[in-house]
Amino acid sequence: MKQIAIFSSGTGSNAKKIIEGPLSISPVGGEVRVLPYKVSLIVCNKPGAGVLKIAGENSIPTLLIDKEKFFRGNGYTDELRAAGIDFLVLAGFLWKLPVALIKEFQGKMINIHPALLPKYGGQGMYGNFVHEAVIANKENESGITIHYVDEVYDHGQIILQATCLVSEDETPDSLAKKVQVLEHRHFPAAVALLATL
Ligand code: GRF
Repeated sequence: MKQIAIFSSGTGSNAKKIIEGPLSISPVGGEVRVLPYKVSLIVCNKPGAGVLKIAGENSIPTLLIDKEKFFRGNGYTDELRAAGIDFLVLAGFLWKLPVALIKEFQGKMINIHPALLPKYGGQGMYGNFVHEAVIANKENESGITIHYVDEVYDHGQIILQATCLVSEDETPDSLAKKVQVLEHRHFPAAVALLATL
């Protein structure tokens, strides 16, 4: 079974959904959650972040990382390996990743972005900045992108996209809510699928 580390700096709503696992329908009826992965570690760069509380509630170990060590060393690769981690999920982690870490987990590291890449990605494109830009450009649709991570921000191979409509009276907050529904619906399922490859 894949041992997953989730990197998050924020509230951790996606981390929570991934910890719970995707809902599926049992062949004998009813809804079940069968997880082909284990979330073994939550990696965070912000003391007090909501995701740390979620980790505590689920008895998942946490690793609070230090900027100097993250960028000057090998990106905590040794600690991740020692914890038996073989797959990384970025869910609201804003630091760029050091090359050593990207190389070590090439093809085993994914990210979720709250827009339809390649548009509205790159440095500074996070949170409501993304939704503001989408609305300012009068896009008819937005959505989510789940993609592999490479050395360039929001650039790796796209695994899955899901869309929502942008209405004429849309606000960044209302769009954020629509996008979050998509994230929570698709991210755990995508992680589960990739964990079985
Ligand atoms: C999500 O919108 C995700 O797309 C982006 O960061 C946000 C994380 O939200 N990369 P949460 O902390 O999981 O609620």
